[in-house]
Amino acid sequence: MAFSFFFRDHFILERLAEVVANEVLGKKEIKIWDAGCALGQEPFTFAILLSEKVGYFTFKRVKIYATDIDETGEFERTIKAGIYPKKDLERIPNEILEKYFIKYDEDSYKIVEELHRKVVFVKHNLLDLKPFETGFDAIICKNVLLHFIYSDRVKVMEMFYWSLKDGGYLAVEQTQKIPKELENKFVQLFGDVSIFKKV
Ligand SMILES: C[S@@+](CC[C@H](N)C(=O)[O-])C[C@H]1O[C@@H](n2cnc3c(N)ncnc32)[C@H](O)[C@@H]1O
Repeated sequence: MAFSFFFRDHFILERLAEVVANEVLGKKEIKIWDAGCALGQEPFTFAILLSEKVGYFTFKRVKIYATDIDETGEFERTIKAGIYPKKDLERIPNEILEKYFIKYDEDSYKIVEELHRKVVFVKHNLLDLKPFETGFDAIICKNVLLHFIYSDRVKVMEMFYWSLKDGGYLAVEQTQKIPKELENKFVQLFGDVSIFKKV
């Protein structure tokens, strides 16, 4: 259930990074919520892609909240350490690996401090339907909603709606649709990528 890897669905995350990057100018802080973050592969991938788009200096204004139900505490420990085995990093392009990771020991790499400190883990159960914060510029929730029954999916997506700023973005996996109950709350931004804008 916690299956994930670095650069998974990177075309969705890359497009979201582009959209968010276009709006960074003039904003004091950019707040992102990655809901169902597993061991942190996804929030760190998004951090890398956004940093590539806006540069380290502007990236200082970004904060990514990575949340998960994390029943064993393993996700929190891993994200706080920021250390991943070499085999988990195989899909990361070489130049990106060299720029954003440092060798930790023979078999593992550590994410660079500039990025690491921008990703904060919060233990959170989506089905409690209580946002731990609001005012997000974007929410990423991929490969999580499909595990919920339809009525819960609608409630969780409605919670995302209220947690986003006006005009904020919701990115989900390609097969996920906006339920008919929420059709007046989100519009799809692009025909080919599952990114929706809060109406
Ligand atoms: C398949 S992983 C997806 C990881 C990542 N988002 C991705 O796309 O690669 C699903 C994650 O959702 C988390 N999850 C499942 N139910 C949850 C809930 N009720 N609240 C928060 N997270 C949950 C699991 O712990 C797991 O880490």
